[in-house]
Amino acid sequence: MGKEITDQIYKTIKERRSIRSFTTQKVPDEIVQKIIEAGWLAPSAGNRQPVEYIIIKDEAVKQKISVQKFVGTSSVVVVVAVNKDRATERYGERGEKMYVYHDSGAAIQNMLLMAKTLDIGTCWIGAFNDERVSKLLKLPDNIIPMAIIPMGYPESEPSPPRKIPLEKIVHSEQYEPQKIKEYLMSLVD
Ligand SMILES: Cc1cc2nc3c(=O)[nH]c(=O)nc-3n(C[C@H](O)[C@H](O)[C@H](O)COP(=O)(O)O)c2cc1C
Repeated sequence: MGKEITDQIYKTIKERRSIRSFTTQKVPDEIVQKIIEAGWLAPSAGNRQPVEYIIIKDEAVKQKISVQKFVGTSSVVVVVAVNKDRATERYGERGEKMYVYHDSGAAIQNMLLMAKTLDIGTCWIGAFNDERVSKLLKLPDNIIPMAIIPMGYPESEPSPPRKIPLEKIVHSEQYEPQKIKEYLMSLVD
């Protein structure tokens, strides 16, 4: 693909941050569409494609959907949900217990990265009340909300989070428990 594209992708991945404060500028519909399209293009176990998207612009619903107040200040919220039936009809329990998480995670990450390239800030929100969200959005029983993604133009760029050094979590040939132990010990010192 070429070094330039590689550099751009790396930069996008590295510089994406969870954004929790937004300006009042609205995100145009076609940009929201492009971000959702990136989710739609993600890989899916057995190509069952259980992931679905609910776009929320209504101010009252945005306020109520999360206890995290900043969500209400975003321009638009996209709820990523899965159709449990589509995942389980071929894969049964593994579909429900694992693949729906893999599929929706892959879709969400594609969305966050596409948003970043379009200068849109996002935050992957997993802490929400499932029942409340399902009720608010009138989700049928087989549609399970997986994440709430507020989107907007970032008000500021947060500094990068602290990361466990890569060499402490990469193992060669077999799991090397000493690596992470040493790291955890170094934190205590
Ligand atoms: C599965 C998942 C759930 C998350 N849930 C929340 C959440 O409920 N609220 C929130 O503010 N951030 C949430 N985050 C964002 C993380 O806090 C954030 O990704 C992490 O601190 C690293 O920062 P970064 O995204 O800027 O790299 C979640 C992230 C993931 C992957």
